[in-house]
Amino acid sequence: MEIVIVQSQEQAGKLVADTVAALLKRKTDPVLGVATGSSPGAVYKELARRVEAGELSLRHAKAFMLDEYVGLSEEHPQRYRVVIDREFVEPTDIDPANVSGPEGTARDLVEACADYERQIHAAGGVDLQILGIGTDGHIAFNEPGSSLASRTRLKTLTRQTRQDNARFFGGDIEAVPKHCLTQGVGTLMEADHLVLLAFGQPKAEAVHHMVEGPVSAMWPATALQFHPHVTVLLDESAASRLQ
Ligand code: F6R
Repeated sequence: MEIVIVQSQEQAGKLVADTVAALLKRKTDPVLGVATGSSPGAVYKELARRVEAGELSLRHAKAFMLDEYVGLSEEHPQRYRVVIDREFVEPTDIDPANVSGPEGTARDLVEACADYERQIHAAGGVDLQILGIGTDGHIAFNEPGSSLASRTRLKTLTRQTRQDNARFFGGDIEAVPKHCLTQGVGTLMEADHLVLLAFGQPKAEAVHHMVEGPVSAMWPATALQFHPHVTVLLDESAASRLQ
C-alpha cells in the first residue's frame, strides 16, 4: 500500500488525473471505477479541465459506479447516477452510454445486482478504481460486518453513514435512504489498481484501521491490505493517526 500525503485536494486531483492519463497511454479504452461523495470531487474537476484543454479524452473509456441508493426516484438530485452525471459525465467527454451503476430503481434488486456483476465482467474488469472511505471504515457501501468476499448486493446503511451523508439531504437524516446496492468488497478488490482518497480529521480513525489495523470485517477497508496495488492519498488531518 502506497501512502501519499498531499497538501490539498487539488493536488490529489492532479495526481489521480496523471494516473488516468498514464492509463490512457497504455490503453485507449480503459475501464474506470468511479466513487460518489465529496472525496473524488477534485479528481473529476481536474479530469474535466484536461478534457476541456484537449489534454486527454475519455471518449473510448467505460466507467462503473460503486454503489447506488435504493428508494430515490430516477430524477432525485442525490441519486448517485444523477450525481455522477452532474460531476463526472457531463463535464468530461465520456459517453453516458458507457457509464453504468447498480440499478437502485429496479423491480428485482437481486437480479439487478447479478446483472451488474455480469456487466463488469463483460467489460473485462476495472483498470483503475477510485475510492473514498466512510468514517465507519466502509468502502463503497460495504458497512462494518460486510463479508470481505462479498459481491454486489443489497445492504442496509449504518446510522453513522446516514448521519454523515445527511449533509447532501439538507441535513435531514430521515431523508437519507436506509438501503443501497453496492459492489461487494470481493468485487472492487478485482480492480487492477485501487486509488483511495481521504481528507479531514473525521476520516483519521478509519484510515488508521485501514493502514495499520488488523484485517477485520468490522473495518471493511482493511481488506485493501490484501490488494497488490493500492495508492492512498491523504491530507495531513486524515493521516494524523498513522504512526
Ligand atoms: C460513494 C462511496 C462511499 C464514499 C464514502 C466517503 O460512492 O462508495 O464509500 O466514498 O462514504 O464519502 P465522502 O467522500 O463524501 O466523504
